[in-house]
Amino acid sequence: MTAEKDLHTLLATMHPEVREGEFVYVLWPHGRPLAGAVAAAVREAEGLTVVLPRADADSLGLPYDFVGAWITLQVHSSLEAIGLTAAVSAALTQAKISCNVLAGFHHDHILVPVADADRALEVLHELVAASGEDKPAPELVLRSEQPADRPAILDLTAAAFAVSPVTGLPVQGEPEEVELVRALFDCEEYLPEFSIVAELGGDVVGHVISTRGRVGELELLGLGPIGVLPRLQRHGIGSALMKETIARGNAAGERGIALLGDPEYYSRFGFVPSTSLGVAAPDPDWGIYFQLLPLAVWPGGVSGTFRYAKPFGIA
Ligand SMILES: CC(C)(COP(=O)(O)OP(=O)(O)OC[C@H]1O[C@@H](n2cnc3c(N)ncnc32)[C@H](O)[C@@H]1OP(=O)(O)O)[C@@H](O)C(=O)NCCC(=O)NCCS
Repeated sequence: MTAEKDLHTLLATMHPEVREGEFVYVLWPHGRPLAGAVAAAVREAEGLTVVLPRADADSLGLPYDFVGAWITLQVHSSLEAIGLTAAVSAALTQAKISCNVLAGFHHDHILVPVADADRALEVLHELVAASGEDKPAPELVLRSEQPADRPAILDLTAAAFAVSPVTGLPVQGEPEEVELVRALFDCEEYLPEFSIVAELGGDVVGHVISTRGRVGELELLGLGPIGVLPRLQRHGIGSALMKETIARGNAAGERGIALLGDPEYYSRFGFVPSTSLGVAAPDPDWGIYFQLLPLAVWPGGVSGTFRYAKPFGIA
């Protein structure tokens, strides 16, 4: 995703909001316990800077110069907001309004001189309008992967699996799913119409791949990996990719889809533990995490062990 497009969306959704009251920066007296409604603090070698309501500074007898209005930009990701704060401070500078930027875990905040608060809000609202707030949200497109999509798919797979879904811990180096997807693209069990990308505003933001798997002679689909860009997770993109795979599977007369994953997520699409349909997992230790979705033409009476495409490296 290009930074420019990102910024466009971020600007359109920043929702500037003014906090009530006036805020001041004070240098906290060394050794004195913190007091008052501290809104932000920065420790430096020279001392502790504290931002707090003006009334608190007055009652504590702390001196200050700058009296500011506090504006919060209600965007979600602090990482994404890097470009945002640069754009915001540039716009305010152009309007000759000085601003101090504070980045919190969830949002970015700017403090502008109290006297300029209304004008600052106007500038910010103009920025929102110029970024096309009223434009309709880009539509999610689901389509078969094209060879040109592969670098983007590998990048998003690396991002999606940077934290292991099994351990919940950050992965050192390239997640193994990246090499797996790379190998699946070139294996003989690759099925072009079951490598599906989700595209948003022209960018690949999600991908799912299903390859040929078997139980004895019975051909099934082995689904995975599936990944969505972390910042867009929990927005329905994974579900859309799952439903598209199921719809394509039914349309193609596939019998069923097998996968390894959390039943809490996949049961919503109709997946059940594979053993309940007579299919054993390639690794018996997978237990209920190995699941199967019988499609419209599931034959019944199936018995045997599921075999994934060769790149999975499981017998
Ligand atoms: C798993 C993944 C593909 C789901 O895509 P998504 O776009 O985030 O999911 P959706 O928005 O369609 O669905 C979100 C719902 O699924 C749930 N969900 C998502 N991942 C889940 C998981 N691993 N376990 C249980 N529930 C999960 C969410 O809680 C949410 O439930 P809710 O709607 O009841 O709040 C995506 O989160 C992802 O890429 N994760 C990292 C890689 C990964 O774990 N891949 C799957 C390995 S089996």
